[in-house]
Amino acid sequence: MKSEFLDPAVARYIVDHSTQPDPLLEQLITETLAATGDSAGMQITADQGVFLTMITQLTAPEVAVEVGTFTGYSSLSIARGLSGGTLHCFDVSDQWTSIARRYWEKAGVADRITLTLGPALETLAAFDLPIDLAFLDADKGNYPAYYELLIDRLRPGGLLMVDNTLWSGRVADPAESDSVTVGMREFNDLVREDPRVTVVILPIADGLTMIRRN
Ligand SMILES: C[S@@+](CC[C@H](N)C(=O)[O-])C[C@H]1O[C@@H](n2cnc3c(N)ncnc32)[C@H](O)[C@@H]1O
Repeated sequence: MKSEFLDPAVARYIVDHSTQPDPLLEQLITETLAATGDSAGMQITADQGVFLTMITQLTAPEVAVEVGTFTGYSSLSIARGLSGGTLHCFDVSDQWTSIARRYWEKAGVADRITLTLGPALETLAAFDLPIDLAFLDADKGNYPAYYELLIDRLRPGGLLMVDNTLWSGRVADPAESDSVTVGMREFNDLVREDPRVTVVILPIADGLTMIRRN
């Protein structure tokens, strides 16, 4: 359960009363655990997957971008919500994204997705399409730099979603001073003070920030 800041019973209830993963997503959850061990905790939660599909359906992006693909749960969720556009994925790991590629094929959405491997600060800098919808879920220390690259490319009215911004609730605990928590607080402050955007943090999973380019 990723919503560590919620009462565990409430967190369980939310997941149990959201649309459940279909057999293919269940299979991906199982394979990710078997193939990546402890790293499987990086996978988005099932309720987040539903949320990403729904947001994609509602916004109908032509150009969607994901930074941080791992084994493919979030990309599959976004791609399934597309109605004609393309999802451009960025990740550094061929090993982990090879699992994602297999599931894109199984789900019949591989033709809606491109994957660029390499450090995303470099590959994203070379990406020059106007972005309608973006999901950021990669190395947390680079969030401010990814933010600038993505906001620069986001069209007015476009939406950027950023994962893990409550960092298990530690951002709101003054006693927590580890570098990732401090960095996440600085990121959240940076976004709130940016006059180019409107922002709200949703307490879903580990915290999901919704950022609309004004
Ligand atoms: C939290 S996981 C993403 C989870 C994924 N969204 C899902 O639903 O399963 C973070 C991913 O970021 C990738 N990553 C880490 N550093 C990166 C970098 N510098 N450039 C691109 N990708 C990076 C990792 O390889 C990993 O797959």
